[in-house]
Amino acid sequence: MKSIIVCTSVSHGNTKRVADVMGQALDARIVEPEQVDIAKLAAYDLVGFGSGIYLGSFHSRLLEFVESLPEGQQHKAFVFATSGFPDARPHAFSRPLVRRLGQKGFEVIDTFSCRAFDTYLPFRLVGGIRKGRPNAADLESARTFAEGLPARASATP
Ligand SMILES: Cc1cc2nc3c(=O)[nH]c(=O)nc-3n(C[C@H](O)[C@H](O)[C@H](O)COP(=O)(O)O)c2cc1C
Repeated sequence: MKSIIVCTSVSHGNTKRVADVMGQALDARIVEPEQVDIAKLAAYDLVGFGSGIYLGSFHSRLLEFVESLPEGQQHKAFVFATSGFPDARPHAFSRPLVRRLGQKGFEVIDTFSCRAFDTYLPFRLVGGIRKGRPNAADLESARTFAEGLPARASATP
């Protein structure tokens, strides 16, 4: 299954570390949104979209990239994030991106997130939170998640 991972990781490289592990598991290239030739995206069966979370949303560069994609995409997709806080209500952050990708024609087969070093201003005053994350266990979870994607992508029509 030909896969590519589009990742923005600007704060501490947290999401890039997760993307690297997923990229190994999927034998996928990891690219910044601006590096993607949209015309060539059609060659991929599975596209990953990931970034850190900023004030409740994925990074603006990733979201702008998604907006720039034409509708009628026929790929499977997955979404992943690193963040200080979990992807859970009342601050669930994956849902709007999953919905938008669906509107573009992607079939999002799953989402992944893990905690990561967070130096958002209030936390910076105390040296940040979630120090040491993503840790080895987080990266192992990311690997397991990614390894399972091809079978799940093939299982859905
Ligand atoms: C300005 C700023 C805003 C952030 N906002 C959130 C947020 O709303 N929710 C959250 O869970 N984490 C938040 N974080 C933490 C980041 O999502 C976390 O550090 C992430 O791992 C950064 O990913 P990156 O290093 O790949 O860019 C924020 C961090 C910064 C610096």
